[in-house]
Amino acid sequence: MNNKKQTAVVVIPTYNEVDSIGKMIDHLFKKTFPQIKNWHCKLLVVDDTSPDGTYKVVQEKQKKYKDLYLLLNKEKAGIGNAYVKGFKEAMNKLDADTIIEFDSDFQHPPETIPAMLKEIENGADYVLGSRKIKGGSNPKGWGFKRVFFSEVGGFTARFILFFPFKNFFKITDPTTGLKASRVKGFVNKMDMDNLYTKSFAYKLEFLFKMVLLGAKIKEIPLQFGLRTVGESKIEPKTAADTLKTVLHVRLYDDPFVKKFLKFGTVGFIGYLVNATLLQLVANLGQPEWMAWGVSTEAAIISNFTLNNIWTFKSDKIKGLSALTKKFLQFNFTSAGALIIQTVVGTIGVSVFGAQYRQLLLPFIILFLVLPYNWIMYNKIIWKKK
Ligand code: GDD
Ligand code: MN
Repeated sequence: MNNKKQTAVVVIPTYNEVDSIGKMIDHLFKKTFPQIKNWHCKLLVVDDTSPDGTYKVVQEKQKKYKDLYLLLNKEKAGIGNAYVKGFKEAMNKLDADTIIEFDSDFQHPPETIPAMLKEIENGADYVLGSRKIKGGSNPKGWGFKRVFFSEVGGFTARFILFFPFKNFFKITDPTTGLKASRVKGFVNKMDMDNLYTKSFAYKLEFLFKMVLLGAKIKEIPLQFGLRTVGESKIEPKTAADTLKTVLHVRLYDDPFVKKFLKFGTVGFIGYLVNATLLQLVANLGQPEWMAWGVSTEAAIISNFTLNNIWTFKSDKIKGLSALTKKFLQFNFTSAGALIIQTVVGTIGVSVFGAQYRQLLLPFIILFLVLPYNWIMYNKIIWKKK
């Protein structure tokens, strides 16, 4: 008999939510959870010992609902901190298979909870409530300015985190606070102890990490409501913190970006080798094609060596026979680059004159050789087995 229900833990962080938390708890236990047949639903409130006594309301309700849990932090330490603690508690003590991030103030409609769990059942690993897709919306009361900042902020975050990959197009509302995450293979694999930020921007860091873990993402419409009681805890510094966070994770945690920056550096060194020799050989009075050809080959040797020991060190080519074979292959694919540079360079000099030689080289490299090489290196030379 193995038809034990899966467990869904809804985590609500609270700070001074005394006017909404009691109603939310009742709503979830009386209306929402009973509709959800396939899951055992639990609610975990993470309160930072709110001065207004939010946690006391929760403690009172715990007498009534056995699946209601409370985690108390000694002091206010940010929504990101509350979620890290809540996620760990949900995984380690509450047996969570899926964790839902939810607000206490009814801005997230409770009916989205069964909808998100359906998507998890259907195979999604990470379900995001989006205000930007069909059926989703911002609160009616939001003025132009608020909508404008939300749009620009969301777009910037998408761009910095994911451009030019598919999630840039796919994730329409990256700052959303409504999410459901699969634990196995995702939340339990996520490094939550070294988060860059503990503020609201943690949302984007979690998002980025789930994407890196290969989560299958599904968006559902979110009609984001107006807050009717209490007040927003978002601070003015949230925007700057969000920008810093997305830049940080993309630069330091994205293997693609790390690799591309190394590739760029190696290429730049190759360019210096190329430019120096180009001038030297030309000054010796050799023919134009010779100057371009020799200097380009020298750059190829530099590129092969440095990329092998640095950029592609995880797929490093070792052993004399493999190295020889790959170096020959590298020369072969680089013949394309050599031909591109020699032909375009020679034509360029004949059109613009020799005084433009050094200007032509970086343009040819940037727009023709660089994209060509990136593709050849990844698809042929250091191809993953
Ligand atoms: N424990 C704890 N500690 N809870 C906090 C803290 C904190 O420092 N800061 C905020 N919270 C709780 C609030 O009490 C609330 O239940 C929830 O986190 C969301 O906070 P709100 O203050 O209501 O945020 P918001 O409505 O302005 O922002 C919402 O929309 C954003 C997108 O526009 C949230 O859903 C954000 O996560 C989302 O990014
Ligand atoms: Mn809110």
